[in-house]
Amino acid sequence: MEAVWALCVALAAGLAADSPPNIVLIFADDLGYGDLGAYGHPSSTTPNLDQLAVGGLRFTDFYVPVSLCTPSRAALLTGRHPVRMGLYPGVLEPSSRGGLPLEEVTLAEVLASSGYLTGMAGKWHLGVGPQGAFLPTNQGFHRFLGIPYSHDQGPCQNMTCFPPATPCHGGCDQGIVPIPLLANLSVEAQPPWLPGLEARYVAFARDLMSDAQRQDRPFFLYYASHHTHYPQFSGKSFTGRSGRGPFGDSLMELDAAVGAIMTAVGDLGLLGETLVIFTADNGPETMRMSRGGCSGLLRCGKGTTFEGGVREPALAFWPGHIAPGVTHELASSLDLMPTLAALSGTSLPNVTLDGFDLSPVLLGTGKSPRKSHFFYPAYPDEIHGVFAVRSGKYKAHFYTQGSAHSDTTVDPACHATSPLTAHEPPLLYDLSKDPGENYNLLEGTTEVTPEVLRAMKQLQLLKAQFDAAMKFGPSQMARGQDPSLQICCKPRCTPYPVCCQCPELQPRGH
Ligand SMILES: *[C@@H]1O[C@H](CO)[C@@H](O)[C@H](O)[C@H]1NC(C)=O
Ligand SMILES: *[C@@H]1O[C@H](CO)[C@@H](O)[C@H](O)[C@H]1NC(C)=O
Ligand SMILES: *[C@@H]1O[C@H](CO)[C@@H](O)[C@H](O)[C@H]1NC(C)=O
Repeated sequence: MEAVWALCVALAAGLAADSPPNIVLIFADDLGYGDLGAYGHPSSTTPNLDQLAVGGLRFTDFYVPVSLCTPSRAALLTGRHPVRMGLYPGVLEPSSRGGLPLEEVTLAEVLASSGYLTGMAGKWHLGVGPQGAFLPTNQGFHRFLGIPYSHDQGPCQNMTCFPPATPCHGGCDQGIVPIPLLANLSVEAQPPWLPGLEARYVAFARDLMSDAQRQDRPFFLYYASHHTHYPQFSGKSFTGRSGRGPFGDSLMELDAAVGAIMTAVGDLGLLGETLVIFTADNGPETMRMSRGGCSGLLRCGKGTTFEGGVREPALAFWPGHIAPGVTHELASSLDLMPTLAALSGTSLPNVTLDGFDLSPVLLGTGKSPRKSHFFYPAYPDEIHGVFAVRSGKYKAHFYTQGSAHSDTTVDPACHATSPLTAHEPPLLYDLSKDPGENYNLLEGTTEVTPEVLRAMKQLQLLKAQFDAAMKFGPSQMARGQDPSLQICCKPRCTPYPVCCQCPELQPRGH
């Protein structure tokens, strides 16, 4: 299958001026390193993402700092380790009192301050709070259309499948309000019809881009799809069409949305002036078996600090500016804040940042300033600090712990039954020769060379220095929950929370 919008790219290249680029940041959910066609999946149908990979820069060594939704999203939008902001342990719930602290400076705030029109479509998962205090429109986004958390954080029977009455595969959270679809701060539908969502988000994206062009200003679109988080869903044109079952159908719908966004960018004549970045929040949720994703040759998945949990597909596409190719440079979602600030000519917030400016890597003018990466578990604390550190090609695990999210794979180290284990000396892997973390260099018959010993000592020192310098912010999750904070389209109705229902009269966007 061909991506039709790609035909216009050749025309766009070379026309771009030096004004700040439009930015489209597409963020997938629970998508593994091995899930895209461009990353080797044999039966995924991802022609549009594969085209971004062919025409742009494809990263092989791109990391998130935590393998879980809420903290990973916080890192993406602020360039800071989530523990600094109190976004630990675990994730935010629909009735959580906490959220992304308002004093944190987001990418949207930075770009809005230099004239961008900013909008977000999709999954937020950085808190709701009283009167929606933590929602995107209070965090730098001029516009928001989306669901404030994961779509399984609410009773989801009969919502996710086509035809509509097909039950969910597996369970969703019960005893709380149905998931709301918000337009800015108001409820648009509760619950929305999920197979119609992607089309609405694409329409929102189109409006944002054309309004910005009409206003003669750049745009920042943060497109955080619910795909491919459990439970899988897709519209009629994708269900049963991907060749990879329900997971593949969801992914195919996401891919088609990417294609529709690229077509819209092309129709506006902005392909050469728009930087498109694609990545995902964390590795696959293998506990869903074939309905979860795939980390390819990497070990384990979501919830762990093994490579399958934290290494993600990542693409950067900007015709005329980013040369097509593959890069093995070390990179992270933490780096987007400094990188996008540099590319848009905006000054950085006066806070401790954990990211690096990757614009030399993108523009082909230099190497990555990032030499190391630090990985926190889903439930971090100051006593254990980071569980794993990568420096250059070496990675050391000082602690490992399995996760229910990574259940059902053949490797028991990934599973919830694998307890918190300290490793002294650490497990040490050479990721250039062994990306799957199979062969511990400090164990077995391999000779421990002086280089390997030096690497181990350097990683031990990096961990000690990093942990000593890190200051955990007060936990937002520890602020607890207040069921009255749940969003309800019929305030004070009974019986609560099931009465909070304002569904759409008929499926839309289909
Ligand atoms: C799901 O749909 C079926 C068939 O329409 C209906 O009987 C059932 O009550 C619905 N379940 C929920 C939880 O809404
Ligand atoms: C949100 O508010 C902005 C600014 O008032 C408006 O342009 C937009 O249409 C509203 N709704 C959505 C879904 O963005
Ligand atoms: C940045 O913040 C620090 C500490 O809060 C403060 O001392 C310093 O003056 C600030 N710098 C600027 C340029 O605002």
